[in-house]
Amino acid sequence: MSGTTTQGPQETRIFAPSAAFAAQAAVAGMDAYNALCAEAAADYEGFWARLAKEHLDWQTPFTRTLNEDNAPFYQWFEDGKLNVSYNCLDRNLQNGNADKTAIIFEADDGTATHVSYRQLHEKVCKFANGLKARGIKKGDRVIIYMSMSVEGVAAMQACARIGATHSVVFGGFSAKSLQERIIDAGAVAVITADEQLRGGKRLPLKAIVDEALGLGGCDSVKDVIVYRRTGGDIAFKAGRDLWLHELVDGQSADCEPEWVEAEHPLFILYTSGSTGTPKGVQHASGGYLLWAALTMKWSFDIKPSDVYWCTADIGWVTGHSYIAYGPTAVGATQVVFEGIPTYPHAGRFWETVAKHKVSIFYTAPTAIRSLIKASDVDPKVHPKNFDLSSLRLLGSVGEPINPEAWMWYYTQVGGEKCPIVDTFWQTETGGHMITPLPGATPMVPGSCTLPLPGIMTAIVDESGQDVPNGQGGILVVKRPWPSMIRTIWNNPERFKTSYFPEELGGKMYLAGDGAIRNKDTGYFTITGRIDDVLNVSGHRMGTMEIESALVANPLVAEAAVVGKPDDTTGESICAFVVLKQARPTGDEAKKLALELRNWVAKEIGPIAKPKEIRFGDNLPKTRSGKIMRRLLRVLAKGESITQDVSTLENPAILEQLKETS
Ligand code: PRX
Repeated sequence: MSGTTTQGPQETRIFAPSAAFAAQAAVAGMDAYNALCAEAAADYEGFWARLAKEHLDWQTPFTRTLNEDNAPFYQWFEDGKLNVSYNCLDRNLQNGNADKTAIIFEADDGTATHVSYRQLHEKVCKFANGLKARGIKKGDRVIIYMSMSVEGVAAMQACARIGATHSVVFGGFSAKSLQERIIDAGAVAVITADEQLRGGKRLPLKAIVDEALGLGGCDSVKDVIVYRRTGGDIAFKAGRDLWLHELVDGQSADCEPEWVEAEHPLFILYTSGSTGTPKGVQHASGGYLLWAALTMKWSFDIKPSDVYWCTADIGWVTGHSYIAYGPTAVGATQVVFEGIPTYPHAGRFWETVAKHKVSIFYTAPTAIRSLIKASDVDPKVHPKNFDLSSLRLLGSVGEPINPEAWMWYYTQVGGEKCPIVDTFWQTETGGHMITPLPGATPMVPGSCTLPLPGIMTAIVDESGQDVPNGQGGILVVKRPWPSMIRTIWNNPERFKTSYFPEELGGKMYLAGDGAIRNKDTGYFTITGRIDDVLNVSGHRMGTMEIESALVANPLVAEAAVVGKPDDTTGESICAFVVLKQARPTGDEAKKLALELRNWVAKEIGPIAKPKEIRFGDNLPKTRSGKIMRRLLRVLAKGESITQDVSTLENPAILEQLKETS
């Protein structure tokens, strides 16, 4: 290993996949990759039609591949019918996987339970029949507010089986965030658990659902279905609440799938944008599942003998595509992990890899960085103390991976023999977009390398013109692809303006990230969001949402939130706040900062807590009253202002905002 530690497109170290890996890979070598790209370029629709026929089972075959008549509301495989749960479960019963382990549930306390495809199928069918018995049907929306569990995956699959559209809300979101999502989705039911177990602690779920429903406006919700996880004390509202085990008790283990059109909405997942409330990203059934299944094969090179583990939560898109749907669609055995990486010790990931002989491991750079730090402090939790010989492929997702973390992952976890797939994608893209193919693409630390075959990514300037390699710009996708977002639930206009802006011609998908391609290799490096979206520990958050939460506090007059680079979490949240009262200092400032941080946690969820709060008499503003965020970003980093501040009305305020409370 040699070379520099230069970040970004100047990085010069290259790691080719081993010949042994390449020889057995689904896409073996760059020639195979290039052939797929050429096939897509020559006959785009033919390419996708072939893949959709090969990788999915259709109840009614499609005859039309892509309908662009109502662009950018694209439709894929529109006259075909299928069922997602059938493709993920029944198919496995027919092709010899019935007794294969589908899920190894690794509980918070280390207890492991194996669930076969036959058992998962039975669980899902009973669950689906239970939902039907409550009158839930095709097209209804169901909120899932659950911890990581077999039941969480089963809830998603059960909705898919009956054609109900689910919307999973991450268990770390507050009652208010949950209520907003319930109302926007118009959900008829909420599926939850009594409590969740994380890091040895019991955290409430059902109580938060009660609080959310109590906030009002949720009259559409008729049922609250509760999975008993801990047996903790919870309130039960007669006529509305019911136990999952009672609902499924006595239900048939057969449930004829609801055959839905390929475009039928499989799920809505709320994510943050630069403005306004979170957007309900709506995904279709056919195109989405095709990409989830296919990328399991292409990006992860999944084989029947693999034990796969994605450490994401089902509350995020990674947990949808790469836990609930992708792995089951390809008949994989996967670990579903309830806990956290640092409990009971920071070697838990590596211990679990050794315990279940995990061969494919997929996690976020934040987790890697925090485990590097932990093993510096306590050498006992270093990966070298665990038998990681089962690993053959590593993956990274959710945020840029810095070359140092990449190198540690490659050498200390992967023993220099495992390719790393640095997968760039988004809630809106449904699945991987730009990633090395493990048996083909030579890897460069910190670069997600090249787009997958059929994915027409490009980098353009603000007028939509392509920029040459070596020059940074705006990341776009020039052609629709099957797993793309279909619309924003309840807000098609916002879908158009957010993702297909007129300034770029109205036809290119705007990812919201900046990117640059290496001059020589053409490899992509993501340079970060170009909008007001932050990425904290791989969690996406809008600065506006946090600002709105802050100004909702009766003490706060004004707030501006910016991201600050952070060694572990990638970015951290820094809030500049003007109170209605005089600017606090000393202990008073500390006390109020803590109060406001907890306030944001209550309003949005603990993940949105600002790490830092600075109080000022005012915020830096132009004469027309616009807050100059770029200056705040500089101050947050602790750097001195070198920019021109002549348009600033109140330059003296900058001095005050340098100080952390
Ligand atoms: O900024 C990019 C970053 O995460 C954003 C998408 O966040 P979300 O919709 O929550 O989905 C996360 C899981 C796919 C992107 O706009 N991002 C995601 N993966 C990477 C990344 N940035 C750099 N490298 C990646 N591999």
